[in-house]
Amino acid sequence: MNRIFSGVQPTGNLHLGNYLGAIRNWVSLQNEYECVFCVVDQHAITVWQDPPQLRHAIREVTAGLIAAGVDPKKNILFNQSMVPAHAQLAWVFNCVARMGWLNRMTQFKEKAGKNRENVSVGLFAYPNLMAADILAYKATHVPVGEDQKQHLELTRDIAQKFNADYGVDFFPLTEPLILGEATRVMSLRDGSKKMSKSDESDFARINMTDTADTIAQKLRKAKTDPEPLPETVEGLEGRPEAANLVGIYAALANLSRAEVLARVGGQPFSTFKGELTDLAVSVLQPINTEMARLLADPASIDAILREGAERADAIARPIITEVHEIVGL
Ligand code: ADP
Ligand code: NA
Repeated sequence: MNRIFSGVQPTGNLHLGNYLGAIRNWVSLQNEYECVFCVVDQHAITVWQDPPQLRHAIREVTAGLIAAGVDPKKNILFNQSMVPAHAQLAWVFNCVARMGWLNRMTQFKEKAGKNRENVSVGLFAYPNLMAADILAYKATHVPVGEDQKQHLELTRDIAQKFNADYGVDFFPLTEPLILGEATRVMSLRDGSKKMSKSDESDFARINMTDTADTIAQKLRKAKTDPEPLPETVEGLEGRPEAANLVGIYAALANLSRAEVLARVGGQPFSTFKGELTDLAVSVLQPINTEMARLLADPASIDAILREGAERADAIARPIITEVHEIVGL
C-alpha cells in the first residue's frame, strides 16, 4: 500500500519554492494515492511565533493549499496540533534517535548558526517530530523539496532502529518523492541560498500572495549575470541565477528546461524576466483570488481542519496505541 504524507509550516507567507517544490506535486498525487497533508504548526513554534499571527497563518496556509488545488475531500487536510499522535510518537523517537544523528543535520546548523546555545531544544529535535509526522501514518512516500532529503534519511534511520531495537517489522522505510523541474528554488538575491520563508529580504522570494506589480518588481531586481540565456541545458552550468529562473519557468509552464531554452535561448534577461513575470502572474493570480475568497470565511476553514483532524486521528491513534504496546508503555 502506498500512503503519502507531507507538511508545510504556517510561518509567514507561502512562497514559490513551497509551491513548486511541494504543493504543486501534492495536487498531482492526490488522485492516485491516499494522501495526508498537514499544516505543521508544532514545527512552527520551534522558533518564536506571535500567537495571533500564528493562528492567522494556520488558516492562511490552509486556504493557500486549497486554492492551489489540494482538495480536502480527496485528501486528509488538517493541522498537526489537533492530532495528539504526532507529539506522542515524537517523544518515543526522541528516545530512539541519537544525539550524534541530529548533530549532523545541516538545516539545524544553518538555522542555529552561531547561536547554538540559545536556540530552542525543539529546533534541535525538529527532525524527530518530522519522523513522527510521517510514521504516525506509516506513510511510504513523502513529496518534498530537495532541502528535506537529509531529514527523510533520518526518518528511515529512526524507523530502522525502532524496528531493530524492539525486534519488530513495524515502520516502513519511507522514501522521498522529489518531483518536477524546481526541486530547489533559490533565493532571487543570492543564487547559493534556497528561497525560504525565513529569508531576511522580502525581495529574495516570490510569495504566493504577491500582486502582479510586486512579482514584476521582484523579478526585475532578481540577481542575474550579463550574458544572454543559453540555448542548451549544459549552458546553464556555472550560472546559478540563470539556472534558477529557467527552472522556475519550466516548472510553472510544465515544460522541461530544455524545452524552455529552445524557446527563450539567446534572449537577454530583461526580455526573459518579462515573460517569466507574465507566466508567474497567470499561475499565481487565480490562486490568490481563491485564497482571499476562502479567507473571508475563517469558520469554514476551521471546519475543514477539524474534519481532517478527525480522519487523521482515526489512522494515527491505533498506530500510536500499538507503538506504546511494543515499547511497554
Ligand atoms: P520553508 O523552508 O520555507 O520554511 P517549509 O519548511 O514549510 O518551508 O517546507 C514546506 C515544503 O516546501 C517542503 O516540502 C520543502 O521541501 C519545500 N520547500 C521549501 N523551500 C523550498 C525551495 N526553496 N525549493 C523547493 N522546495 C522548497
Ligand atoms: Na487522494
